[in-house]
Amino acid sequence: MLHFEYYNPTRIVFGKDRISRLDHLVPATARVLLLYGGGSAKKFGTLDRVIEALGGRSVAEFGGIEPNPRFSTLMRAVETARQENIDFLLAVGGGSVMDGTKFIALATRYPGHGEDILLSRSKPVRLSEALPIGTVVTLPATGSEMNAGGVISHQAGKYVFSHPLVYPQFSILDPTLTFTLPPTQIANGIIDAFIHTVEQYVTLPAEGRFQDRTAEGILRTLIEIGKTTLNDPTDYDARANLMWCATNALNGLIGAGVPQDWSTHMIGHELTAMFGIDHAKTLAIIQPAAWTVRAREKRDKLLQYAERVWDLREGSEEERIAAAIGRTRDFFEELGVATRLSAYGVGAERIDDLIRALETHGMTALGEKREITLEVSRRILETAL
Ligand code: NZQ
Ligand code: ZN
Repeated sequence: MLHFEYYNPTRIVFGKDRISRLDHLVPATARVLLLYGGGSAKKFGTLDRVIEALGGRSVAEFGGIEPNPRFSTLMRAVETARQENIDFLLAVGGGSVMDGTKFIALATRYPGHGEDILLSRSKPVRLSEALPIGTVVTLPATGSEMNAGGVISHQAGKYVFSHPLVYPQFSILDPTLTFTLPPTQIANGIIDAFIHTVEQYVTLPAEGRFQDRTAEGILRTLIEIGKTTLNDPTDYDARANLMWCATNALNGLIGAGVPQDWSTHMIGHELTAMFGIDHAKTLAIIQPAAWTVRAREKRDKLLQYAERVWDLREGSEEERIAAAIGRTRDFFEELGVATRLSAYGVGAERIDDLIRALETHGMTALGEKREITLEVSRRILETAL
């Protein structure tokens, strides 16, 4: 097992009708900025319930944070937070609202230009303060509710940032708030959580037995409840399991002490930035292709995945690996998500543009061993057509 430090300060409040807990979780004298997306939180009454739970606190609102939240939108929220003297941010939404809120938390207290935060991975900046954050989750998918990262869209790219100051202080996970999600977003949530898990599990053997068994538990649970929760949105237990799996897939637990990959995410980000394909759908396109191209490098963990997640024990090693990739693809397709670029209208003629974008964004050495060069990414994209 590799060395690691693990820190996660987020309180999880899980279950039905827990929004009233906000009265205890948000400081009584807080000046709160409520952040939400394009209107679902308003339409389905979640925002009203949140405002009611906040009682007499001073509350301002900022709506309109779009999926794949844009830097320009978030900078408007930063202005609001400064003008209104806000000292607590409450995100009500999915990954986009939560990620946007994390960015706003840092940018409001950052004296320089907000763009510096987006570029902080390549050019580190000193971030010493952030507004405190709480979240009310309406879409189980990203794990943003219990991690310190965010992904922000700016110009033609998606930028990943992270900072320990933006772990939410608390996150309310009420599975009933997800009952209103359209099937395509639930399929996205299942697939995003699935890929977060495999990007930390189908890597290289590292004797992380707890991490592996936990990852396998998440994957098997997602496979077990996937169809049920898609077909019966009000099955509370199925939704509750999806929600808790999604949180644990990316709260640092299964990734501590083991190699991580993330190349599927990085290539996928270019597909979202260039063609507007939903985040999780880009992952469903790239992952089977990436495993096909890198079956040799990932042999040991792919065989373990085949046996322990899909119960594939018959046939040669190559056959078992091919069958595991096939089962994964079928699982995504059965959730209604296409796994080929062509299904999204993206043809071979766009691969050069995608490779250029990866190069511009510094994604030239991806994967657990940094051996996914642009040439390997090209082969992955060609395999995904
Ligand atoms: O905007 P509204 O009207 O709220 O509608 C949203 C949005 O259109 C809708 N929705 C959310 N909750 C709903 C609902 N509709 C009905 N009922 C509800 N209860 O769902 C749509 C998608 O929302 P979004 O927040 O964009 O989805 P998701 O949670 O999948 O987040 C995707 C974003 O998270 C980033 C992605 O890159 C992408 O920008 N990620 C963040 C990560 C992190 N912070 O750790 C990791 C992930 O890998 C991911 O990259
Ligand atoms: Zn993701």
